[in-house]
Amino acid sequence: MPAYGIVGAQWGDEGKGKIVDFLAESADMVVRYSGGSNAGHTVINEKGEFALHLIPSGIFRTNVDVVIGPGVVVDVPVLLSELENLHSMGVDTNRLLVSDRAHVVMPYHIMLDQLEEKERGGNAIGTTGRGIGPTYVDKVARVGIRVGDLLDPTYLSERLNPVLSTKNRILEKIYESDPINFDELYKEALGWGEALRPYISSVEKKILGSLSKGEKIVLEGAQGAMLDLDHGTYPFVTSSSVSIGGACNAIGIPPNQIAGIIGVYKAYSSRVGAGPMPSELHDSMGHEIREKAWEYGTTTGRPRRVGWFDGITAKYSAIVNGFTSAVLTRLDVLDGINPIKICVGYEIDGKKIDYLPTQPKQFNSALPIWEEMPGWSSPTAGATDIHDLPEEALNYINRLEEIIGCSFDVISTGPKRDESIIIRPIVTS
Ligand code: GDP
Ligand code: IMO
Ligand code: MG
Repeated sequence: MPAYGIVGAQWGDEGKGKIVDFLAESADMVVRYSGGSNAGHTVINEKGEFALHLIPSGIFRTNVDVVIGPGVVVDVPVLLSELENLHSMGVDTNRLLVSDRAHVVMPYHIMLDQLEEKERGGNAIGTTGRGIGPTYVDKVARVGIRVGDLLDPTYLSERLNPVLSTKNRILEKIYESDPINFDELYKEALGWGEALRPYISSVEKKILGSLSKGEKIVLEGAQGAMLDLDHGTYPFVTSSSVSIGGACNAIGIPPNQIAGIIGVYKAYSSRVGAGPMPSELHDSMGHEIREKAWEYGTTTGRPRRVGWFDGITAKYSAIVNGFTSAVLTRLDVLDGINPIKICVGYEIDGKKIDYLPTQPKQFNSALPIWEEMPGWSSPTAGATDIHDLPEEALNYINRLEEIIGCSFDVISTGPKRDESIIIRPIVTS
């Protein structure tokens, strides 16, 4: 059972990139399992600072094969420019494989994502505008173009021709937008195939072979459980299965191969885009945390909404994913903040609840019920030993563990690889 799922436990941007880069040291393979270039995973290590959108965060480890799995949607120009950037920084990308079954984000998906958002007006989701939703829609509608199709000129033409003709009618007739020229797109797509040819592979055999040899695989999640298509704050979610069930399904590995399911939580909450966030801070404290932690989107640069730790969504994530343990990031951001609050329940229409509402109307009117804890005055930033943490920080950590129902294996105290307290090793088998 040598696979370890690293799952965002809130609304994304919990610090998965840092953790996957760190854990990859003990792994043989890192497989990204969902989402697309909507993700922005920051990795800071001896090679520099990187914002990865599609390439798995294990790419910096020479011991690791990295795989863009079948469940990912691939914007090829974004991937190519990421590869170029890594090359220019001296990072070897020869160990990258891209699943031939991953779906391709086409220019019409990006156009439609942006046009549909405009059409939603005040009900816009606040998507990243990267074409993610429309690409997954086409996958489900069975009209998607897959990475492997880019290598077969005849098949690509047969697939693209009817799809583009429908998309052009939608673009022109519904959105009064310019159509896309078939010949130009077809040529461009064949060029993408050629550029990616060395990386494209049927990855399932390699992944299953690796598992059967007992090699250790880190499954890199994108987004966070509250953005999961089924379990998140629908309709303010992304269009993929962010949770561990989605990982097994998308990659094609049986659940009994999973040795650990690790939820990544940040010590407070953040969210980009619209949708309910009961513990959001609209006051100067929210501003202070946003500026101190530089909570601005890695992909879009948008300011992230910031709030106290939301115990209700956090617990739900742990349950729906069956977290066997967790990682706490950005503890250092709370240094010097006193008191610290935790949302431990919601009040909806005068009624107190301690579970996740499913209807947007309820969720939108949910008022947080706070629990207050004393902050700490000596810093945790950069700490690498649990014994160096102030008592109040330990109490806060213990309280979060109690709420989510599992313990933290790693406490991250800064953005750099070594700014971490290891309580128990995660990748062990
Ligand atoms: P991801 O999408 O989950 O990979 O997270 P992002 O990279 O989008 O955002 C997390 C941000 O927090 C990045 O800027 C990281 O460099 C930073 N980060 C990660 N862990 C820590 C930490 O423990 N402390 C601080 N101060 N920053 C961290
Ligand atoms: P990482 O992997 C934070 C959010 C968008 C929007 C919603 C739908 O870096 O944690 P989409 O473009 O996916 O259709 O947008 O999901 N979103 C993210 N928020 N981190 C991410 O990824 C996100 N990926 C999508 O802001 O609210
Ligand atoms: Mg991110």
